[in-house]
Amino acid sequence: MRVSITQVQQMKKRGERIVMITAYDYSTARLVSDAGIPLVLVGDSLGMVICGHPTTLPVTLDEMIYHTRCVAAGARSALVIADMSFGSYQAGAEQAYASAARLMAAGAQMVKLEGGAWVARSVEFLVARGIPVCGHLGLQPQSVHRLGGYKAQGKTDASARALREDAHALALAGADLLVLEMVPAALATELTADVAVPTIGIGAGPGCSGQVLVLYDMLGIYPGKTARFVRNFMTGSASVEEAVQAYVRAVKDGSFPASEHSI
Ligand code: KIV
Repeated sequence: MRVSITQVQQMKKRGERIVMITAYDYSTARLVSDAGIPLVLVGDSLGMVICGHPTTLPVTLDEMIYHTRCVAAGARSALVIADMSFGSYQAGAEQAYASAARLMAAGAQMVKLEGGAWVARSVEFLVARGIPVCGHLGLQPQSVHRLGGYKAQGKTDASARALREDAHALALAGADLLVLEMVPAALATELTADVAVPTIGIGAGPGCSGQVLVLYDMLGIYPGKTARFVRNFMTGSASVEEAVQAYVRAVKDGSFPASEHSI
C-alpha cells in the first residue's frame, strides 16, 4: 500500500521523524521505496546531478514529467512528489494547474513549488482541484540569481519574519508539506512547532519533522561542490542499499543532522 499524506501528518503528530530522499529513475526509486522511505522527491536538482547544469533553471517541465514517470514506476510504496520546474508555475494559478496536472498524470501524488506568500493563491487553486502541494521555503534554488548565491535564509530579523509569514501563508492555503532549506536551526524548530504542516529540513537542523537529502549527495557521487549540511552515507557502507538504510536509521534516531550539518 502506498503511503498517504494522512499517514505523513500522523507521523508528525506522533513525533516520528519523516524520511525523504530524491530519486530520478526506476531502479533507485525502487531501492529507496523498498527501504521503507515514505517520501520520494523527483527534485529539479536532477538538472545538476543528472544533466550537469550549474543550476536547476534549465530543467524543463517535459524533463520533470519524464523522470516522474520513471520514479513512479519504481516507487512501489512511497508517496512520489514531483518538483515544478522553473517557469512552469510562476505566471499564476492557471499555469500552475496546467503544469501540475501533467506531473500528476505522470504518476506524482504531490507537487512541490518554491516560494512564499506570492504562490499561496496557486497553492489554494491546486489544492481546491485535488492536487496536494509541498511548499519550499528558505533557500529557493530557482531564485539563486536574485539571492546572489546558494546562501542561508532567515538569518536577519526581517528575513526570519518574512519566512514565518510565508510558512503561515502556505499552511493557510492548504499546503500539506513544507521543505525548509538552509534555514537557521532555531527558526526551523520554531516554525515546525507553529504550523500543523510537517516540515522537512535540508540544512535546517534537527528540529524539523523530517529530513531530505539529494540521493547523489548522500552517496558521495556528485562531483560538484557539496554543501556543509550533507553527510556521505557511503562511508562505512558496503553497498548503496546499506547507505540508504544508514540514512533512514540516522534520521529516525536523530543522529542526522548533527550540529555540524546545521547553520
Ligand atoms: O530539487 C531538489 O532536490 C530539492 C531538494 C533539495 C529539497 O528541492
